[in-house]
Amino acid sequence: MATMKCVLASAFGKADDVLRMENEWPRPELQPGSKDVIVRALACSLSPACTRMLDGSVDIVIRPPSFPYIPGMDICGIVEEVGEGGSDFKVGDCIISSNGMMPTGGLAEYAIVKASSNAAIIPKCVSAIEAASIPCSSVTAKQAVQMSNIKDGHRILVLGGSGGVGTALVQLARNAGASFIAATSTDEKLLKSLGVNRVINYNETNWWEVPEFKADKFDVIYDCIGRDQDKCRNVLKTGRQGGLFVAISLKQEFEAHSKCQVMKLFMPGICKQMWSSVWRFIPRFKFFISKTTQKGELAELLELVSVGKLKLILEPNSPYEFTIDGVKKAFILQASCHAHGKVVVKI
Ligand SMILES: NC(=O)c1ccc[n+]([C@@H]2O[C@H](COP(=O)([O-])OP(=O)(O)OC[C@H]3O[C@@H](n4cnc5c(N)ncnc54)[C@H](OP(=O)(O)O)[C@@H]3O)[C@@H](O)[C@H]2O)c1
Repeated sequence: MATMKCVLASAFGKADDVLRMENEWPRPELQPGSKDVIVRALACSLSPACTRMLDGSVDIVIRPPSFPYIPGMDICGIVEEVGEGGSDFKVGDCIISSNGMMPTGGLAEYAIVKASSNAAIIPKCVSAIEAASIPCSSVTAKQAVQMSNIKDGHRILVLGGSGGVGTALVQLARNAGASFIAATSTDEKLLKSLGVNRVINYNETNWWEVPEFKADKFDVIYDCIGRDQDKCRNVLKTGRQGGLFVAISLKQEFEAHSKCQVMKLFMPGICKQMWSSVWRFIPRFKFFISKTTQKGELAELLELVSVGKLKLILEPNSPYEFTIDGVKKAFILQASCHAHGKVVVKI
């Protein structure tokens, strides 16, 4: 039996306690007639979903099918084998893919890329490390910008602009026509380099109290943090004027182990969304959940990268080594909620 090196999580818990490196784990195999492909992985990027699955904090929503499991879901790799059913890809193609909403299977030398994952071939000008950073975060940012219907001249605020989603969002909002972009972050230099007009360090200033924002209100606020959502009224246009609050994150940290806890988390957002759709004198509130990657989405994002309209931001210590120490460090940083850009492991 062919084997491979991979990372395994043996139970819910902290990266230091539950992750281990396995050198002889069975390689994945394609089913007869499959339209899937097997890739030799080059890089895998992490996201908050990976750390949530690992710590078990939302085990009613995101949980592995069984233990041990291979964590990670956004990968870049070279096609090694094509299923009997045929594929859009051929052996030797370098592709990126995301394993849908389930962060499993990525931190391994070989992985199955499902036909349904809408993977894409990467152009030569994009490195494997950069490419692996695209799927979950940039797709989320793209879908959030698309649903909020940004028009030329719009004023945008991104709460949590330096994260994986935020760094893509500020750029995609600009591409969509936004003329003024503000963001909250402790990393002014990074966000200014992405074309953000005004950066608010949330440790020093409350974004809802900035006089300039009160005088000239925002058309859209994207929230990647999930704190202080109720503070937006002074700086966001009302629904009638086109103001929209997009809650990408409801809360940065929360636990959901029962249906009751899930209801408690989601119900206020759902009620706010319904209430704001009928009462047009307050800003509209939209609770955003990204869809699985749609056909052509990854190719579209790669094209933007190729023509210089989307810069992929890697967290400064990325790529992390594919050793147990490297992977643990990557998970610990991702779980801290203070990564600036994407955390990527080189495989
Ligand atoms: N709705 C969906 O479908 C969907 C999809 C993907 C992700 N998400 C959610 O979106 C959120 C963001 O994801 P991500 O990948 O961008 O996370 P991330 O890469 O971990 O981003 C964390 C960023 O948040 C910043 N931050 C932390 N506390 C902050 C605060 N109080 N105010 C402003 N910024 C703060 C950090 O910057 P500093 O170091 O400067 O604090 C860091 O850059 C997560 O909660 C994730 O679960 C939702």
